[in-house]
Amino acid sequence: MSDEILTEVIDRIGVARINRPKVLNALNLATMEQLVEALERFDADPDIRCMLLTGNERAFAAGADITDMTDASMVDMVQRNQFARWERIKRIAKPIVAGVSGYALGGGCELMMHCDIVIASETARLGQPEINIGVMPGAGGTQRLTRAIGKAGAMDLVLTGRMISAREALAMGLVSRVVPAEHYYEEALKVCHELCTRSPIALRLAKESVLKAFETTLAEGLEYERKLFYMLFATDDQKEGMRAFLEKRQPVFAGR
Ligand code: HXC
Repeated sequence: MSDEILTEVIDRIGVARINRPKVLNALNLATMEQLVEALERFDADPDIRCMLLTGNERAFAAGADITDMTDASMVDMVQRNQFARWERIKRIAKPIVAGVSGYALGGGCELMMHCDIVIASETARLGQPEINIGVMPGAGGTQRLTRAIGKAGAMDLVLTGRMISAREALAMGLVSRVVPAEHYYEEALKVCHELCTRSPIALRLAKESVLKAFETTLAEGLEYERKLFYMLFATDDQKEGMRAFLEKRQPVFAGR
């Protein structure tokens, strides 16, 4: 296996790093397959509580690999069925924190939007520039971006292809936090460490419930949330969390 996705486990955090620096971490098919396999491995590992997805200082990912697509026909693109991999990322149950520095463009921005919490360096440059190369977003950009930031912002980014700064992305609601460049990775890791102290089952259901908001009406979403909330009262973690609060100590969640 090549090393286009570097993985390591830090405490109970599964770290995946996109590693194609020469092409600004452009995502080709093999890289995406390796990435999805790594995330699925972390998701299936009971010792892992959450994941950190990152790139390097210069790029989180500058999009899908354009050299892969330049001469492809419509039939080639359909037969590749590359979006099946993206669907698999959507099914990852544990929280994914993105540590984003430099470019997060096109498929890179879409990958970032598949993550649950986004910690951006103030150097991050985000956007959906596909229009500049004669296409449009294909991995959820028109849909997730619109739901995240609304029609006005999404039309601006998707139709002009312009890049925005991390601060603008924060103001639009596209990233969770912006931190100084030298701290983005450390801050993303810190968030992961915090998640590791939470109940894994509550994290999983809370993530599921927030994502449900993208798929349903408010009434259906509220109903769904309520059922998941009730479900948590069948866990030891709920008892531990509430008792620890009353006993003025830190809870220890076993994930049961
Ligand atoms: C392939 C890429 C690439 C990409 C950069 N490179 N982005 N190769 N696919 N998406 C390569 C360049 O060809 C170059 O290779 C090297 O990375 C460094 O890039 P430069 O352009 O020299 O760097 P710079 O001048 O700093 O400009 C950075 C940049 C620019 C603004 C990010 O590279 C750029 O515009 N990249 C394309 C961004 C884009 O259009 N993304 C959307 C792709 S379509 P050499 O060999 O010359 O050193 C997409 C559709 C998703 O994502 C659909 C779902 C999967």
